[in-house]
Amino acid sequence: MNQMQDTGPLLSVRNLAVQFNTVDGIVHAVNGISFDLFRGETLGVVGESGSGKSVSMLSLVRLVPEPPGEVTDGSALFRGTHETVDLLKLSWREMAAVRGRRIGFVFQDPLSSLNPLISVGKQIREVLERHNRARGKAAKRRSIELLALVGIPDPEKRYYSYPHEFSGGMRQRVMIAIAIACDPEVIIADEPTTALDVTIQAQIVDLLVRLKRELGISVIWISHDLGVVAGIADRVLVMYGGTAVETGTAETVYQHPRHPYTVGLLGAVPKLHEHNERLVNIEGRPPSVYSRLEQCPFAPRCPWAFERCTQQRPPLLPTGRDEGHSSACWYDLELNERRPGRST
Ligand SMILES: Nc1ncnc2c1ncn2[C@@H]1O[C@H](COP(=O)(O)OP(=O)(O)OP(=O)(O)O)[C@@H](O)[C@H]1O
Ligand SMILES: [Mg+2]
Repeated sequence: MNQMQDTGPLLSVRNLAVQFNTVDGIVHAVNGISFDLFRGETLGVVGESGSGKSVSMLSLVRLVPEPPGEVTDGSALFRGTHETVDLLKLSWREMAAVRGRRIGFVFQDPLSSLNPLISVGKQIREVLERHNRARGKAAKRRSIELLALVGIPDPEKRYYSYPHEFSGGMRQRVMIAIAIACDPEVIIADEPTTALDVTIQAQIVDLLVRLKRELGISVIWISHDLGVVAGIADRVLVMYGGTAVETGTAETVYQHPRHPYTVGLLGAVPKLHEHNERLVNIEGRPPSVYSRLEQCPFAPRCPWAFERCTQQRPPLLPTGRDEGHSSACWYDLELNERRPGRST
């Protein structure tokens, strides 16, 4: 095995920018975000609705419709077991070989991702066959194994069932079976539990956590739910207005947040580890997506904003608290003595 490939992050995204060219104007959905995903870790991506969580992560596997979507800048180095590639430079054909095979995904609504006319077993089998993982009887056997692995009772029989014959939670299990069918190195889970009842949510969280541990998969977990993210993420990326405003280990970001937006978010969560605390309690509104940001996107809502915040966009820089903890805030940089969220 090549030693080189085991060092450094599995995925390094730098300065990713995505826009939508619409009749109403250009929507600047993602404005230059950078982050790393390390092997075997879960990166929680949090931020309020419209902050660019889905668009940034889905653009990495070209699941953002083009047009109107367009990746205008950035790189996404994926150091897979085979070779290092820039995901943003792959041809459609090369991407088709990466997507679903080396990078799997699970979405909020399994019903819209599954074909209603094909039995679930056959849909798993098709994924295995498309990526040359198994054929014929072996593919069927593996599909049944996968159904069992994701906790579907009576998998031999359920192989023949159609999506509408499953509950929401069971359909999400089928989606997870498809996502892991080809032993991917990464899973992108975009609000995988949001549409489910609370008890079922917990089961799906447990399932993904178990599979991640057993199969050694790295996970990008997009969520509104800070409680869920606190429970499962090794590191957290906080997004606001299409930018990354803070990143660090889950412990540091939760215990010692440095960006005023993160401080506000955590203030809006009465109890950690409690589900369904949606991020809606910060006063004010998110920035217009039509204007390119020349200032800090959070400045209009920020209790600590000063002149510089409205003139220049702050870069995401190390806070010095611990390795990998960064925040994009002029206040934090310039007035470090009085920084928000400082532990007492
Ligand atoms: N097809 C599209 N055409 C135009 N604008 C789009 C399109 N898809 C997304 N956007 C815009 O891009 C921005 C980022 O959207 P995105 O879906 O990434 O947000 P999000 O953080 O995932 O929000 P949510 O939590 O609601 O899922 C939003 O302003 C959204 O309106
Ligand atoms: Mg989304």
